[in-house]
Amino acid sequence: MAFASLIALVALAAAVAAAPAKTKATCADGTQVNNAACCAFVPLATDLQDNLFLGDCGEDAHEAIRLTFHDAIAISRSQGPSVGGGADGSMLLFPTVEPLFVANNGISDSVNNLLHFLPLHNVTAGDLVQFAGAVALSNCPGAPQLEFLAGRPNATAPAIDGLIPEPQDSVDKILARFADGGDFSPFEVVSLLASHSVARADKVDETIDAAPFDSTPFTFDTQIFLEVLLTGTGFPGTPNNTGEVASPLPTGSGTDVGELRLQSDFALARDARTACFWQGFVNEQAFMAASFKAAMAKLAVLGHDRADLVDCSDVVPAPKPAVGAPASFPATTGPDDLQLSCASEQFPTLSVDPGAQQTLVPHCSDGAMSCTTVQFDGPASNSS
Ligand code: HEM
Ligand SMILES: *[C@@H]1O[C@H](CO)[C@@H](O)[C@H](O)[C@H]1NC(C)=O
Ligand SMILES: *[C@@H]1O[C@H](CO)[C@@H](O)[C@H](O)[C@H]1NC(C)=O
Ligand SMILES: *[C@@H]1O[C@H](CO)[C@@H](O)[C@H](O)[C@H]1NC(C)=O
Repeated sequence: MAFASLIALVALAAAVAAAPAKTKATCADGTQVNNAACCAFVPLATDLQDNLFLGDCGEDAHEAIRLTFHDAIAISRSQGPSVGGGADGSMLLFPTVEPLFVANNGISDSVNNLLHFLPLHNVTAGDLVQFAGAVALSNCPGAPQLEFLAGRPNATAPAIDGLIPEPQDSVDKILARFADGGDFSPFEVVSLLASHSVARADKVDETIDAAPFDSTPFTFDTQIFLEVLLTGTGFPGTPNNTGEVASPLPTGSGTDVGELRLQSDFALARDARTACFWQGFVNEQAFMAASFKAAMAKLAVLGHDRADLVDCSDVVPAPKPAVGAPASFPATTGPDDLQLSCASEQFPTLSVDPGAQQTLVPHCSDGAMSCTTVQFDGPASNSS
């Protein structure tokens, strides 16, 4: 091909790529969207932000992100559609069934919160769960803007018990469940666990409230992948609860609870099938965010055919930008504390936060002792 025509081709390709995305519908409020079916999600996003998440990557957002997983993974390729419909909103539509399963302990707060919005907006329960998760995640600095496809039919039956992974499960069992539920590879499983960068436990050790899984529970960053690789030294509350192992930062003070480590995160970080993927996310913010987005796109449509859904990604709010700080060893820890099982990759060189004392993890994103959260009443309750 002549050089000039090659240039012309490249220019044409650039022009095509640069053309503004065609909007195909204008909603009642004037917002332009990809498809008229997306319009219902515009006021829903505003309502969720104003009246539930409050623009924060706090407790209510974390819970909504967890709910996307617990609704969607309740499906089985081997057992067939009767045991669960995947991302179908069954958690909301059968609120006195699934939230009572032990593996769903703690999920009822998010179920009741989202049930408040269901009669106020013309969306299905399954769409509400996945959309709320995407909106919630947008409040977490560094998170990707998730894909959102609309059009999941309402669930017609609840899922059976036993489909949600538990922290005391072996890596064999966890990988098998993810493969059976959604054909997830070990890499995709590790990618999904980036969600634990914005997570805290209330139910693993019921003597403490909101025990964080890493030192930065209000930012979607790679600290979780670093900190789970450190030697455990103690427990933030009572020792040896089911599904819990020692964490490297157990010290707390008042409402600033020490870090809690799930046995499943510990095991996945050290298993031969997943250790290199786990380590590979340390200090790789963009790679982690992109990998999480790709795996979430699969999770969010479990039980559905993508071709039956409408792409409404344009109504997902743009996330807060990443904080930009590289991953670092929390004060009192360092490279000597790493428990590395991945032989094929070099561990990155990271700085150590200064200080002779373990830094406390703040209880609220604004540093306050008591955080503003929202809790609507509803029919769902927990197993304990
Ligand atoms: C091996 C698979 C997984 C296991 C065993 C697991 C287990 C857990 C446990 C035990 C908790 C603490 C619940 C509590 O005590 O309040 C938790 C919290 C959480 N999980 Fe997972 N999880 C897994 C995968 C996932 C995935 C795939 C996602 C999302 C895509 C997710 C998102 C979350 C979030 C956001 C929280 C925090 C909830 C809050 O702060 O209120 N988890 N997980
Ligand atoms: C509700 O949404 C469905 C699906 O997008 C649409 O067909 C229907 O017209 C909407 N109903 C109202 C009352 O807006
Ligand atoms: C889905 O279920 C909710 C709650 O019962 C209801 O408000 C909504 O209209 C249902 N949507 C469809 C499309 O059936
Ligand atoms: C916790 O469990 C480990 C492993 O079984 C054991 O070695 C340790 O003594 C236990 N710690 C406490 C405080 O019970």
